[in-house]
Amino acid sequence: MNLIQTLHIASAVLFIIDYVVKSMLLVFDKTTVLDKYKAYTKVISMIISTIFLVTGIYLVTQINMKTIGGWFHLKLTLTVIGLVLGIIGFKKKNKAMVLISTFLFIYIYFLSTTKSVMLKKANLDGIVTDTTAANYDELVHGKGIYINNCLRCHGEDGKAGINGASNLTASMCANKGLIGIIKHGRNLMPAYKDQLSETEINAVASYVKSLRSAE
Ligand code: HEC
Repeated sequence: MNLIQTLHIASAVLFIIDYVVKSMLLVFDKTTVLDKYKAYTKVISMIISTIFLVTGIYLVTQINMKTIGGWFHLKLTLTVIGLVLGIIGFKKKNKAMVLISTFLFIYIYFLSTTKSVMLKKANLDGIVTDTTAANYDELVHGKGIYINNCLRCHGEDGKAGINGASNLTASMCANKGLIGIIKHGRNLMPAYKDQLSETEINAVASYVKSLRSAE
């Protein structure tokens, strides 16, 4: 995770907390408190939203919109809807609009952390993903990522070849080439550098190597 991503997530969390406080004050008719709160936090919340938007726009320019998952398109669309509803809602003091935008922002936050529309990573439940943990097993972690991301084309044993996918058990890619293909994709193979972390890519690469029969 680089500095821009860290800044984006930190500002997103602060933005949401600030937003929830403001929307609750509006919903419970505490408008004088809301006006005071707004006056006190004006500068800081302007700084937070600027950091949040600038880092967000920068990050969007860094990714490949064609290969990133559907969750990301949903996230962008909902963010725009949430911002528009929020701006109009606060201006008109419309509680329903403000409440909907608040729920949208909270949903978007979990959508971003899980990268799943249903807010859960199906098969990583119960798998140790912390590489520093004593019971961490890279192959078990890699297998979980493989089932979630790669199985639909490469199949359980790596041989399925759906959508023209390579037979992974016959692949002779050295480690560097393997990681390169997973990160950047090739032809119909999607790129995973925006969807999986460095650790996850290394783990799934190790798992792919373990599928090779004669090694
Ligand atoms: C949408 C289908 C699809 C998905 C999902 C997919 N792949 Fe692929 N994969 C392909 C295709 C197609 C190729 C052949 C690319 C080419 O034309 O060279 C390929 C090739 C590869 C290769 C190169 C093998 C070689 O020796 O040339 C590796 C390694 C690989 N995939 C790993 C993965 C991993 C790991 C994942 C999950 C993180 C994954 N793939 C997900 C379709 C897919």
